[in-house]
Parts: sequence; structure tokens; C-alpha cells
Amino acid sequence: MNTVEIKPGIYWVGVNDHQTDYFEGLWPIIEEGVSYNAYLIKDEKNVIIDLAKELSTEELFKQIQKKIHLPDLDYLIINHVEPDHSGAIPALLRVAPNVTLVGTQKTQNMLKCFYGIENRFQVVGDGDELPLGKHTLKFVSTPNVHWPETMMTYETSEQILFTCDAFGSYGALQGGIFDDEVLNKSFYIQEAQRYYSNIVSLFKKAVINAIKKLDQVPVKIIAPSHGLVWRKNPEEIIHLYKQWSEYCLSKSVRQTGITMLVGSMYGNTMNFAESVAQGVADEGVSLKIFDVLKTHTSYILSEVMAQEGIMIGAPTYEGILYPPMAHVLDELVHKRFSAERTVARFGSYGWNGGGIRRLDAITASLRWEIFDTLEFCGGASADEMGKARAFGAAYARLIKEKTRN
Ligand code: FEO
Repeated sequence: MNTVEIKPGIYWVGVNDHQTDYFEGLWPIIEEGVSYNAYLIKDEKNVIIDLAKELSTEELFKQIQKKIHLPDLDYLIINHVEPDHSGAIPALLRVAPNVTLVGTQKTQNMLKCFYGIENRFQVVGDGDELPLGKHTLKFVSTPNVHWPETMMTYETSEQILFTCDAFGSYGALQGGIFDDEVLNKSFYIQEAQRYYSNIVSLFKKAVINAIKKLDQVPVKIIAPSHGLVWRKNPEEIIHLYKQWSEYCLSKSVRQTGITMLVGSMYGNTMNFAESVAQGVADEGVSLKIFDVLKTHTSYILSEVMAQEGIMIGAPTYEGILYPPMAHVLDELVHKRFSAERTVARFGSYGWNGGGIRRLDAITASLRWEIFDTLEFCGGASADEMGKARAFGAAYARLIKEKTRN
């Protein structure tokens, strides 16, 4: 893409990544891609804010050199050391001999760990300022959004907040970079929700603390390092991040919907799930069914975070819980999606069960209440299929009740 002038002297000089299949080596972006938004401020001092992954270095440097000669770079602001933003630093140090790296004390320590970089570093703290000429940068400490060293950078004259991971999303940019110029903003919101649930949700309290702190900062533009730049309505993405954090903490009412996680070895549990789904439909509650073997956890986390209802349908496999289901639930435990949920469970077994016993341990560690559990041997009988439908309807009524405002 071409560089974009955001405000006089302030440029988006980012790159899209269509090569990486799994963000952090974990989360699929095969179809969606991702952007690394680097920013340049040209002034008496030239500054870059955040870089890109190492594999994008050449393209990133071409972007920057459309506006300045790299040897004329004075500062690199490092809001966050994760290598999707810092991978290009070693190459930058080779071509920009005058650059000073700027970040928190923890950033300095991490640069040593990741790259063996020990000098050319200026430590800044919360509220410190860096005058550039016409522009001044002010640093806002926001630890754990996403790593402990994280900070944000505020440009005071245009009131632009460079937030790095916070308020970001998956999804390569498709021509437009601003919230008011793309026709598919809903795609970026959906991908911001998935990104939040995958990358940021473990740090939900830190996000809320950061948003509280930003209440004191007048912001006209939110410029994250992934996804859209929010200039028309920056409050929209701030509100969404706050809402998702509150969903995770049960501090706001989640959506009236059910996420059904299903695994099936020979189709018996899936057949049962379809009867349960009929009961949910009878009550007019929205439902998304995920086959846990076929859908990556990345997409499941996003739905589980936002919808009130969770139904888990899995067979017993060799006396334990169907392993692909255990994998998904382990991820929910890790992300601490443990806030006040009531879940429903069902599944098939062959002889003496065992899947539900393992599920008991997982739901207990999540502190989830159990609405009800239906188990059946082999394939469900007609009578059991009838019970499945009633079970789905009863659970859907509970979800309507829990989300009634
Ligand atoms: Fe975009 Fe936590 O890195």
C-alpha cells in the first residue's frame, strides 16, 4: 500500500502480512491476514512509532523511505516488544546509525533478551514527554496490554493516541486504513473481537485500568498497530474493548445467544446436538454450533466470550473426555473465562462413561454452574431425543432470563 498522511507530518507507514498463517504461531489468519501499522512523524526530530515482524522488514523500510532517509531517523518509539512489532529493530539499527530507542525500563530488559540490544536506549516513564519540534509525544504506561512492558504514545497537538495492540484487530487492510473510509467495517469489528478474545482477554483487568486512565486524555484518533485507524469514531472501538473486558468479568450483560461446542466420533452426539438445537430454536434464541474438531479454538473463544449460553456436547473416548473438546476447554481455563456462567452438557458413552467426570473437573476449575447433564449409551433412543429437545428449550429459557435487562 501507499503511505497515508493522517495529519500534517504524521504518516501511516505500515505493511500488510499475508504470509503468516498463524498469529503468534497459534491463531489462524490464513484468510484474514494482519497489518502491522507503523507510524512516522516528520519534524525537527524524525520518529517512528512501532515497527513490524522481521519478515516484513524490507517492505516496511521501503514504506518509511518514501518519506525520509532511514539514516535521518532520530527516535524509534517501542510501545511493545512482541516481535510482530519489534522484529525489524536489529535491521533498523544497521541502517539508522543515529536512532535512539525509546521505551519503558522493562522494554530495555526485554530488548536484551530478544535481540541482545543493550545500548542506544532511552528509558521513559508514565507522563514523560519527548519534544520533536512542532509535535510533542507523551508516554502513557499501560502494563499488560498486552505484555508487562507495554505503553502507549500520545501526540499532543493532534491528540492522536498510538495504542499498539490495544484496540487492534486481525485483518489485513484492504485499501482504506480509516474507520470512515472502509465499507466493511463490520469485518474489522468481528476480527477485533476475535483478536481481543485470543490475544488480550487474559489481561481484561489491565484493559479496563488502561481505559479508565485514558478517560483523562482527550483523544481524536486511535491509531493501533493492527487493523483500522479510528478517526471518525474512536469511542466505538474503546467502547467495544471495554464491553468485551466486562463480558469476561461478568460486569455487563452478555448477548442472548448460545454457543454450542460439539464433538462426535460416530455421529451419535452430533445427532443428539441437533435435537437440542431444535429446542433452542423453539425458544427463538440464537445459536452457533461449532464442531470442535473442525473449527479452530480462535473462532470459538470469540463467540464464547460474547454469548451468555454455553452448551458442551462430547462423547467419552477411552474413559476420558473426547480430546478435541478437552483442548478447547483447556484454552478457556487458560484465558480465565471463568466469570459466572451456567452451562449445559450432554454426550454419548459406550460402556461406563468417564467423559463427564473429566468435564466435571474442568467446569469446577472454571467455577461454572451446571444447568443439567444428559448422557446416553451409544445412540440416543427416540425418548432420549425428545428429552434433548426439551433440554435445549429449557436451557434457552434460562439464557433469556439471565440476559433480560
Ligand atoms: Fe501485536 Fe502483543 O503484539
